[in-house]
Amino acid sequence: MPGIDDVIAAETVLSDVDGANGRLIVRGLPVEELARNGTAESVAHLLFEGFFPDLPDERGLARAIGTARRHAFQRLEPHLPAIAALSPVEALRAGLSFIPDGDDLYTALMLSGAAAVLTPAIIRFNGGQQAIAPDPKIGQSADMIRMTSGAPASQAEERALNAYLATVSEHGLNASTFAARIAASTKAGLGSAVIAGLSALKGPLHGGAPGPVLDMLHEIGEASRAEAWLIQALARGDRLMGFGHRIYKVRDPRADALKSAVKALARAGGAPNRLTLAEAVEQAALDILHKTKPNRPLETNVEFYTAVLLDALGFPADSFTSIFATARIIGWIAHAREQEMNGRLIRPQSRYVGPVPKQAA
Ligand code: ACO
Repeated sequence: MPGIDDVIAAETVLSDVDGANGRLIVRGLPVEELARNGTAESVAHLLFEGFFPDLPDERGLARAIGTARRHAFQRLEPHLPAIAALSPVEALRAGLSFIPDGDDLYTALMLSGAAAVLTPAIIRFNGGQQAIAPDPKIGQSADMIRMTSGAPASQAEERALNAYLATVSEHGLNASTFAARIAASTKAGLGSAVIAGLSALKGPLHGGAPGPVLDMLHEIGEASRAEAWLIQALARGDRLMGFGHRIYKVRDPRADALKSAVKALARAGGAPNRLTLAEAVEQAALDILHKTKPNRPLETNVEFYTAVLLDALGFPADSFTSIFATARIIGWIAHAREQEMNGRLIRPQSRYVGPVPKQAA
């Protein structure tokens, strides 16, 4: 079936995904720079520029993002008991639908704030703990760590989560962003666009992959078992999660950006014994994939080191997709606004291959 590869469905000023050379540029900045210096707030400003007439400067936007977390928490807290029975990503999908739809900056910030407060709240709720209210005065990454663990984030942890949120906030016309743009093209509103995006992100072929990456690392357990485990998985017909990409024909640049962020966290003493295992599994997987599928350019994708990084920060595996969504919401909103402002209704055609009516006798 056609996967509409290579079809240009939109023009965007937001990002350039160069799959042949393994490069990602977001509004003129290489992803490596965003990973090193970006924050959730600075990337929101970068991506929202030109899409909201009342966008404040970067400091003003950072303050507004903090305030929106507080408003979103107040709005969503009463619904937590009902939605906590769902998985974190389904709870996020349900929670976002409590934000009234609209096309303005306030709606955008409420959606982003809702994602930032809901995931920590659901993690705690499911662990039998009380949700912690946000602190609008600290950065979003530090606040997400604090709302999850109950303890203030170290500088290294804050930097690592900022690196993650900045690295994955925007990535061309991937499946979830396309879904968001389709919803936006009907003028349905930013909330509808974001929920459409999240619904597409959830699948294991897209943003659902990092949880299974961590399961794989758990099951392998030690480097010496990697090769046998991976060969068996491929023999069963499984895909190795965290490898392969529709656009990147070489290594996904985000994988290295996140690997550097995990290493920085490790240097600061905050991380993970799993990094050494992950590196060994990655190398074994690449060797096996190159041997078994020599004609397929299968390399490490962003989800592999996402799993290692989010695990090191103490987030449980079933929350990884929701945290991904917390970053990508900013990209979905920017694309939705771009579509609303410059685009037309997206309405492709299908080719009918079903039965034809019988000729009248
Ligand atoms: N492990 C083993 N084999 C793979 C993998 C993998 N991870 N990925 C692709 N292949 C193989 C397929 O089996 C197929 O082989 P065949 O032609 O011999 O049958 C071939 O490579 C091409 O596969 P397609 O499905 O056509 O490639 P597509 O471009 O659609 O796949 C995708 C991209 C979905 C990401 C795929 O590589 C995959 O399933 N990866 C694992 C899941 C994952 O890591 N997802 C996260 C992606 S990053 C993101 O969305 C944020």
